[in-house]
Amino acid sequence: MLGSNVPDLDVERRRALIVEKGGDRAYWAGEPLHTDSGAGRAVKTGPVGSGAVAKVAIMTTPEPADRVLARASLAEGDPTGWFDRLYTAAARGEAEVPWTRGRPHPDLAAWARPGEGRRALVVGSALGDDSELLSAHGWAVTGFDVAPTAVAAARDRFPRSTVDYVVADLLNPPSAWHRAFDLVVEIMNIQAMPRDFRPAALTSLASFLAPGGTAIVSEVAEENQDMANWQSPPWPFSRSEVESVAQDGVRLVGLDTVRDGARYWATFTR
Ligand SMILES: C[S@@+](CC[C@H](N)C(=O)[O-])C[C@H]1O[C@@H](n2cnc3c(N)ncnc32)[C@H](O)[C@@H]1O
Repeated sequence: MLGSNVPDLDVERRRALIVEKGGDRAYWAGEPLHTDSGAGRAVKTGPVGSGAVAKVAIMTTPEPADRVLARASLAEGDPTGWFDRLYTAAARGEAEVPWTRGRPHPDLAAWARPGEGRRALVVGSALGDDSELLSAHGWAVTGFDVAPTAVAAARDRFPRSTVDYVVADLLNPPSAWHRAFDLVVEIMNIQAMPRDFRPAALTSLASFLAPGGTAIVSEVAEENQDMANWQSPPWPFSRSEVESVAQDGVRLVGLDTVRDGARYWATFTR
């Protein structure tokens, strides 16, 4: 059942491991884990959605489920299949979705400005919090995610939402989205795919931006991580990789680090 929050020793153990390992789980470092939110819920036992190897690993190792499932998915040559498996396992109470906050991303909340009916696209919309934030600020929002379970959970969490939640793949997006959005938000999604897929993902991202619009890109900053001991996912970005969103008429407006240098926060326009 979704929506309850049962105290759980496995979750506590995993949380402790995350703290012990320092910044290696930087896409949620510094943000408390929330386990009470739709398909992001965390509990402990039972079979995993698919993949016998991943099933055994989730149930018997202290390794985070996202890492176990990502490894199995990538071994099959599939860079994104593990996301839905993770959300499905979480919805059944068998894993946790580590990026689930139960509220909008704080850096996006700090940035948020009036949309006045303009169109916004939220990449990797997950459980919908960032999309709902922008909708509340007057943007006409499309939120998309490659994981059908996440899209269904977002719709369930916000049944009266005006957000258009869509299942779509950044690596193969709908052609109708070409230069269609006044705001494009990419927060810590592309870094969750191996680097081989990055050029295609960044080209898609740039293609969504309408003339005069704003694209926000935030990813873990490689320059301030201990990359010698890093375990993926995620795969952190270099500064020049973030800058490479400036292609095909898109130009960089600003690139800063936030969270004590742990993340890039970049804005672009066309
Ligand atoms: C690490 S989570 C970040 C979620 C959210 N942006 C946040 O900041 O909490 C990555 C999300 O992107 C989605 N995703 C990963 N690859 C994708 C792709 N190729 N196209 C669309 N969504 C994708 C995943 O299903 C997941 O919900």
